[in-house]
Amino acid sequence: MNDAKGAFTADRTVPRDPSRFEDRFAARATGIKSSAMRDLMSLSERPDIISLAGGFPDTDSFPAEVFADVWHAVADRHKASSLQYGPTEGLLELRELICRIMAEDGAHAQPDGVLVTAGGQQAIALAIRTFIDPGDIVIAEGPTYPGAVPTLTTYQARVIHIPLDPDGMSIDLLEEQLDRLAAQGQRPKLIYTIPNFHNPGGVTMSRGRRERLVALAAERDILIVEDNPYGPVRFEGEALPSLWELDGGAGGVIYLSTFSKILAPGMRIGWVAAPAPILRKMNLGKQAIDLCSSTMSQRFIIEYLRRCDWREHVARLNTIYRGRRDAMLAALEHHFPAEATWTRPDGGLFVWATLPDYIHTGELLARAIERHQVAFVPGEAAFLDGQGQNSMRLNYSGASEEVITEGIGRIGAAIEAMVDLRRALGGGQ
Ligand SMILES: Cc1ncc(COP(=O)(O)O)c(C=O)c1O
Repeated sequence: MNDAKGAFTADRTVPRDPSRFEDRFAARATGIKSSAMRDLMSLSERPDIISLAGGFPDTDSFPAEVFADVWHAVADRHKASSLQYGPTEGLLELRELICRIMAEDGAHAQPDGVLVTAGGQQAIALAIRTFIDPGDIVIAEGPTYPGAVPTLTTYQARVIHIPLDPDGMSIDLLEEQLDRLAAQGQRPKLIYTIPNFHNPGGVTMSRGRRERLVALAAERDILIVEDNPYGPVRFEGEALPSLWELDGGAGGVIYLSTFSKILAPGMRIGWVAAPAPILRKMNLGKQAIDLCSSTMSQRFIIEYLRRCDWREHVARLNTIYRGRRDAMLAALEHHFPAEATWTRPDGGLFVWATLPDYIHTGELLARAIERHQVAFVPGEAAFLDGQGQNSMRLNYSGASEEVITEGIGRIGAAIEAMVDLRRALGGGQ
């Protein structure tokens, strides 16, 4: 349409078909589904809903005076530079501090072998985009981190899940799978694993399995992506060596971690440690995405680590989480049916529960939200192949013990209603 001066203006009175973009989306956008976790996060904002769905660390316990002091120090000393762009790889001081944090856990890296990222999530995305062409195989635990699901879908990975048991990923089953693939002339590009306090599985890979995994991956020349956001969030048992440490600098592991669970997810700061050629490619990938991570957050973290003992804060968190985990386990015992099973985590933020196979947790979630005002993550969100339909992820870090007990009671009531309905329809006794 032309106006009086002959210039083109769109006619906004005619409604346009919202589906008109469908055939223009790139293949990587067409396949992508939002993770159920993200969708549910919007529900957790509703005051009437008890959400055991998110992965929220307890940020209430971060001391207000420390928060204020640290920002003051940043404003006093680094006003201009914290308002400025920074290097893509991250501020050198922060990378040095990250190496110190890793070294305390026996994982040695050099500052120029570290890339600071926008949270652990960006670290995962960079690792996947650096290696995965459409159809390339990625091995992941089953279940795997629900936040990695849309990333793997975006880059059109062919994901093969390896079952988890209480000792972590089954290396016997992994080996069988690798043999089957090798017989077809195929080899995975990456093995993506969360060895400590698995999200959502709640289990930790045993030392023996860690050693076997590193040896097997080296023998088959497959890179491991070790995602370790929860290592220090341990409230029982002894720390185990990272895969990075067991690899001993042989270049077989890409190590990812984050300040989200040991400090605060609002900082959006994570990191990658990797062999130099891989890190260079990931750095280029990051340049293309966001140039650099927030310099303000990096400055905050540097000042915080200089002034405070971060392990003391994590120890406080771990005490809180242990109490909440115990509250959740006790409530599960009380309110879930006898056929249900669940994991018993020694750290991290999640319990993974499995219900009788006739209960579809996606349907249960709809009922739980609508009639019982409670939310969790349905198990399907943690698989790329439709498994997990009778499982669920339950978070205990983001709610008080009372709220957790109430929330599990409500989910128990929703399950009972589904079991009753099945009985009424004549299925089972
Ligand atoms: C296994 C795992 N990896 C990565 C992330 C993402 O971490 P961030 O919040 O630092 O992006 C999470 C967050 O919950 C996680 O559980």
